[in-house]
Amino acid sequence: MRHLIDITDLSQPELDSLLDLASEIIENPGKCADACKGKKLAALFFEPSTRTRLSFEAAMLDLGGSVIGFSDGGSSSAAKGESVADTVRTVGCYADIIAMRHPKEGAPLLASRHAGVPVINAGDGGHNHPTQTLADLLTIKREKGRLGSLNIGFCGDLKFGRTVHSLITALSRYEGIALTLISPKELPVPEYLKASVIEKNNMPFTETVDMEAALPELDILYMTRVQKERFFNEADYIRLKDRFILDAYKMKNARPDMSVMHPLPRVNEISVKVDDDPRACYFKQVLNGKFIRMALILTLLEVLS
Ligand code: NCD
Repeated sequence: MRHLIDITDLSQPELDSLLDLASEIIENPGKCADACKGKKLAALFFEPSTRTRLSFEAAMLDLGGSVIGFSDGGSSSAAKGESVADTVRTVGCYADIIAMRHPKEGAPLLASRHAGVPVINAGDGGHNHPTQTLADLLTIKREKGRLGSLNIGFCGDLKFGRTVHSLITALSRYEGIALTLISPKELPVPEYLKASVIEKNNMPFTETVDMEAALPELDILYMTRVQKERFFNEADYIRLKDRFILDAYKMKNARPDMSVMHPLPRVNEISVKVDDDPRACYFKQVLNGKFIRMALILTLLEVLS
């Protein structure tokens, strides 16, 4: 049984074929319209979500399948004290595949050991978010025509931003990726990631607090929100939340072909004036997110049409 808990659960050839399959679906959306007929996806969301949950649901519906689940753990028996293991063992009796988001790091991994059906990590605490990474990789490939030889800037909350952790891990498998890590001193990339991914794979990287100085060198700028819900102290959040704001003025110093990415939701960190700049890719990521999740569901359920 296959699960997707960490982006490295996919081998490089598997990742490449997922990206190819998503591109095929984009070219020919009707291709898989009935591929998951009779199958059910359970979306178990113990944390807020707009894009991830709805794109999973839209993906399954577009494959001809159906969807059950909840968007608030408080409305499930977790509120009565049920364990994640028992919840997913139950859901595995009703659904063919589970997408789970949970505030506790490792909850989807635990779920995968008890569910009896494939489990997809739709975000676990400040840890990982592999399906956002799939959407990001598809977007980079379509925008840049390649996944290697890129100077990528990550900006914002690199400590708690799970999308950053999974994307850096995925990028470590490509040649010629250089990282510019732009964050407040309080929110750097975690040491474990630096040691076990960035340094282990000899990825060139620089850490800086100066977004404007870094900007002209970048092929891609991946902006992130300061993760309010992971802070213990509101005063720290307020102090750090608006440290980096990308606006039209700063975009003048960026390369004419620099792509601006963001997993969304955006709070203040990208001015809405940037939305009309052709370099803004964040709503393309949203759309690509549905197609790559279609490809992922088809692959994990082994129902390729
Ligand atoms: C991200 C997440 O949930 O980690 N959102 C998403 O799934 N697209 C980013 C965030 O919440 O800041």
